[in-house]
Amino acid sequence: MLRVKVGFQTAWTLSPLSNKKEYMAQEELMEKIVSLCKRRGFVFQGSEIYGGLAGTWDYGPLGVALKKNIENLWWRMFVDSRDDIYGLDSAILMNPKVWEASGHVGGFSDPLVQCEKCKRRFRADHLEDISKCPNCGGKLGEPRQFNMMFKTTVGSVEGDDMTVYLRPEMAQGMFVDFKNIIDSYHPKLPFGIAQVGRVFRNEIAPRDFIFRVREFDLMEFEYFIREGEWEEKFEYWRERMQGWFKSLGFDESDVKEVEIPDGERAHYSKRTIDFHFRYPHKFDEIGGLAYRTDFDLKNHIEHSGIDLSYLDPNTNEKFVPHVLEPTFGLGRHLLAVIVKAYTEDELGGEKRTFLKFPPHLAPVKAAIFPLLKNKPELVEKARGIYRALKTEIPQIVFDDNGNIGKRYRRQDEIGTPWCITIDFDTLEDATVTLRERDSGEQTRVPAAELTALLLERLRV
Ligand code: GAP
Repeated sequence: MLRVKVGFQTAWTLSPLSNKKEYMAQEELMEKIVSLCKRRGFVFQGSEIYGGLAGTWDYGPLGVALKKNIENLWWRMFVDSRDDIYGLDSAILMNPKVWEASGHVGGFSDPLVQCEKCKRRFRADHLEDISKCPNCGGKLGEPRQFNMMFKTTVGSVEGDDMTVYLRPEMAQGMFVDFKNIIDSYHPKLPFGIAQVGRVFRNEIAPRDFIFRVREFDLMEFEYFIREGEWEEKFEYWRERMQGWFKSLGFDESDVKEVEIPDGERAHYSKRTIDFHFRYPHKFDEIGGLAYRTDFDLKNHIEHSGIDLSYLDPNTNEKFVPHVLEPTFGLGRHLLAVIVKAYTEDELGGEKRTFLKFPPHLAPVKAAIFPLLKNKPELVEKARGIYRALKTEIPQIVFDDNGNIGKRYRRQDEIGTPWCITIDFDTLEDATVTLRERDSGEQTRVPAAELTALLLERLRV
């Protein structure tokens, strides 16, 4: 098995799992997942041929497909199926005044401590004992604040360069474009602005595979409300978020809510609930729900001098709306979906590893096989069925490598819910063998009914 360092050393000192045996099993599980992700083209180490770059990972063909399936489902649930949330795709680079107004220049920092002996750096708030280095036992220096925004420069004339930041959160795009949405779309309160996109944070200690990284995708929206309704709407979104986790196939025991106490919330939040998923390293944050009050709009009014208030068309009342923010880390969702799906069992007397993805999330929905690859009549028939199915269900593959047993194992390992084999009977009676991933059960199905049958099973 490929052994990849996933950064458990730091987590070990922090893990709430008191039972070492259980912890080792979880560490082994994470290593198996990292190995499967690389072997099958889900996730690769960033810049691997140059020795990698800490906190960066690349998504391979299956990783991209799985990520898009999660993102599309999210967009459908929170944007397309609703009448009150509008999409946005704002720029990653923004005028640096945005980050002064938002409080990120002054406040988006983590406490950092450095070991005087081995020089490794740690987040002080992640350590149980901040006097001793968890790596070498050396003395740790005094904690100091470390701003997590990446800086770069804009401009082509030397000396005229302007320092800008890679956005550390997407929310500011929604606040800065608030007036544009109001002026062009005239939405009535309450309404939301949603985005999916990439953000960048110079994490002190990236770790646990794709869990804590330095660039990642977020799915989030700002939901603008009247101040007086924040508690009611907070409960509303809290329930919708729980519904979202169910739609990914998570059980109640997989996700728990954590109320963030006073003094520990982000600088803009009056109330935050984090949602924690049961990851192998520990229960940890997958998303959150924050009440950002009118903090951001008010600060942008003050710093830009532009009026960002809302005019009620019925009452002519003018005010600055308050905001609720449901946020979801896309990479952490992908990891959670893989962790949940990872299964080892025995089928037909043989051990196997497979990903039990819910069919609507699976990166490959079905694989089409000709029984034998050296029989042109079977290959031609299988290709025809493949082409017809692919126009309706694009995420399918044609596979004629190796024997049927090997093909099943390969598809099981990437979580393909159905394998369809075209054999000599197909030429006679136009039926195919449909094999179920989880049970290995095989049934004969008319080829003409395949599309309707699979579409029905893929319906969410
Ligand atoms: N606009 C609010 C916001 O950005 P956040 O809690 O800082 O809130 C949102 O981040 C989500 O992004 C988190 O719930 C988590 O899922 C994900 N996330 C945060 N830091 C991350 C990191 N370093 N690597 C991967 N995902 C991260």
